[in-house]
Amino acid sequence: MSDAFDKLKGIKQEALKGGGEKRIDAQHAKGKLTARERIDMLLDKGSFTEMGMLVKHRSKNFGLDKQVFYGDGVVTGYGHIHGRLVYVFAQDFTVLGGSLAEAHAEKICKIMDLAMKVGAPVIGLNDSGGARIQEGVVSLGGYADIFYRNTQASGVIPQISAVMGPCAGGAVYSPALTDFIMMVENTSYMFVTGPNVVKTVTHEEVSSEDLGGASVHSSKSGVSHFSYPHEVACIEGIRTLLSFVPQNCEEDAPSIPYEGGDELRPALDSIIPESPNQPYDIRDVISDITDTDSFFEVHKDFAENIVVGFARLAGKSIGIVANQPGFLAGVLDIKASQKGARFVRFCDAFNIPLLVFEDVPGFLPGTDQEWNAIITNGAKLLYAFSEATVPRITVITRKAYGGAYDVMNSKHIGADLNFAWPTAEIAVMGSKGAAEIIFRREIAEADNPEAKLKEKDQEYADLFANPYRAAARGYVDDVIMPSETREILIKAFASLENKVVNSPKKKHGNIPL
Ligand code: HXC
Repeated sequence: MSDAFDKLKGIKQEALKGGGEKRIDAQHAKGKLTARERIDMLLDKGSFTEMGMLVKHRSKNFGLDKQVFYGDGVVTGYGHIHGRLVYVFAQDFTVLGGSLAEAHAEKICKIMDLAMKVGAPVIGLNDSGGARIQEGVVSLGGYADIFYRNTQASGVIPQISAVMGPCAGGAVYSPALTDFIMMVENTSYMFVTGPNVVKTVTHEEVSSEDLGGASVHSSKSGVSHFSYPHEVACIEGIRTLLSFVPQNCEEDAPSIPYEGGDELRPALDSIIPESPNQPYDIRDVISDITDTDSFFEVHKDFAENIVVGFARLAGKSIGIVANQPGFLAGVLDIKASQKGARFVRFCDAFNIPLLVFEDVPGFLPGTDQEWNAIITNGAKLLYAFSEATVPRITVITRKAYGGAYDVMNSKHIGADLNFAWPTAEIAVMGSKGAAEIIFRREIAEADNPEAKLKEKDQEYADLFANPYRAAARGYVDDVIMPSETREILIKAFASLENKVVNSPKKKHGNIPL
């Protein structure tokens, strides 16, 4: 009997060594943790239960029969984050470069299937050289098995991908199909074709970091939602993100107890500048209205003209979508529309109520925007809001112009409660532009065209640059003082807690992709 026990102990000790000391040292030398160290840090202490530790690959090609490792280059299992169940896989770069083939993929699929059955999030810690070249098509099949599950699980359970090393070729599509991607600066990269292929095909010389590093994907492409300076911060980011989201689409997001207190925020009464063209930082509004230090921004460095993220209001998780007057005047463009739409859809899929702050001069004009389909992309945001059935509230802080008024969670597309601050300007366009169009002849024929324009600008502004016409029609439910907004929103969201919407029966909609 003791021989059998010793054998098991020996096997497990070997499995824990991964690709061996030398490779673990090499991993550390690159500033990277090992798969097991990452899991230990991610999960609540002692909560990890490993599955498939003894799995081995079955290939004999190209000397693989002499390179057999327990676990086949991926550590999988389940554990807890903040006491809640999660499934996790962490690719082990020390074993065959974390490359993915048949057995490796089967292990990932197994935990994804379990996560779907029990309704718990899946977290993938990616660090891999991609398809295991020696195993051929079974590696590709393994990827596709994962992609299929990512898609089936989308909208059912939250899926989070952290990229903590290479993620190249078709391998990028599993993270891309998940809800959130996090990357680590200088040690992770994602691209469909690497620098060598790029050089051959386009003659461009570019480093891995410049082609697909954390900074590029967090600011230029928007592929990554979060960028962290090191792995420890990234892992902490995953834990924080999960604190805002429910286990699955049938549950509500976790809330934390809230005592209540003085909800007035007097500083907000002076936050909107005197001049309508002067910027301010919408983050100041968000942080004053939501619970202290609760705002967790998503896609911070991408399309900065719109700000999205999670926060708590009276302890409850909410999703925030806000125009940012401090960047490009808060205009809506292609990237902002994509960013907003994706976030709205995540919140709606996972029962997280939406709070919108609106200060938007309209859509960005120009050939660049038109030729790259601002029509289709702007429609994404419109579609996302229109189909969302979670509680939805809008606060118009200043400008709500043109089509952007409709798009930004207006009452007409299903928002439940809309409020405006006294500084709101709800109009087809800014008063000067409007005057230039509708009084063009009168201005041209005037003795002093400049003075005439000023007069007509003022006339239009007096009529429309306020919230009262919209309020008179019920398009906004009330005009409220900025300082009272938090208190009003707490009551408003509480009133919407039991909201039920029966959407028309359909297989699925056809969002303009
Ligand atoms: C098998 C691999 C591997 C792979 C790395 N290794 N990638 N083994 N299949 N895809 C092995 C290496 O041979 C090496 O083994 C060990 O892992 C560590 O790799 P190094 O090259 O020493 O590490 P490093 O210098 O950090 O370079 C990492 C790397 C490089 C940039 C990822 O390994 C690399 O370029 N690998 C190939 C990447 C690739 O072309 N993959 C296929 C992509 S196509 P030893 O024993 O020497 O230590 C793809 C299609 C997916 O993935 C399609 C899905 C639809």
